[in-house]
Amino acid sequence: MPSCSGLIFQLDHSLGYFKRAKMKTFLGVAIYAAKEAGEIQKERLFHEMEMEPKGEGDLVTEVDRVCDERIKEIIHTHFPDHDILSEEGSIGDGSPYKWIIDPLDGTLNYAHAYPFFCVSIGLEIEGEVALGVIYDPIRDELFWAEKGKGSHLNGKEIRVSKTEELKRALIAVGFPKDYRRSPVDNFDHFRNMMVDSQAVRRDGSMALDLCYVAAGRLDGFWGLKLDPWDIAAGKILVEEAGGTVTDFDNKPIGTSSL
Ligand code: IPD
Ligand code: CA
Ligand code: CA
Repeated sequence: MPSCSGLIFQLDHSLGYFKRAKMKTFLGVAIYAAKEAGEIQKERLFHEMEMEPKGEGDLVTEVDRVCDERIKEIIHTHFPDHDILSEEGSIGDGSPYKWIIDPLDGTLNYAHAYPFFCVSIGLEIEGEVALGVIYDPIRDELFWAEKGKGSHLNGKEIRVSKTEELKRALIAVGFPKDYRRSPVDNFDHFRNMMVDSQAVRRDGSMALDLCYVAAGRLDGFWGLKLDPWDIAAGKILVEEAGGTVTDFDNKPIGTSSL
């Protein structure tokens, strides 16, 4: 597998952020793009914004699109031949390098100025997720992980919780967008988990939920009918923090088989 370490940005550990562009790395570019999109989200949060329905139970705002364009511009300035798979539109098909991005995860929260949303950027190399960066602009929390190099929050290594018993576990859940009409709505699992765990949270940003699992703030997360951009970066964050990401049969999952 091609390596991710190339050089380019200098890491300022106090901010957990690559401040000065010197040479370029995949991680440096991902962090720069996530920070740029996060700034856009913060700046425009309380402003009037255009929004429209997008498919079943879904919504897209102009901020989703502006962030998407900015991230793509940054990635393609540095890596013009790489593919990009984005919730707001994909580019290319055939490069061994595929960036998987959710420019704004938690759009519905964002549209209500409910402060739980993020930018999520993953890079898959030859079919395997090699790095993930998730940025929460409200709390200025930057989560990143690289294969074999651990998971980090603002420059400090993070680990999953040590909770072993479900009855002591705080768990988060995501519901599929078609829950109003589909019988596969996750409500049965939700009921069971409410009874068996300590408590269940439904925060509305799956990528950020996965960061919280990686950081040990949550003990677990489950969801149904996930899209690659919801999980690519979060999956490597959880795994590099010592956690596991599986399907309901306890088998490992890839970003294309969700
Ligand atoms: C959604 C959020 C939500 C989850 C949905 C996702 P979006 O992403 O992650 O928590 O339950 O399934 O689609 O549309 O806000 O990017
Ligand atoms: Ca999403
Ligand atoms: Ca989104």
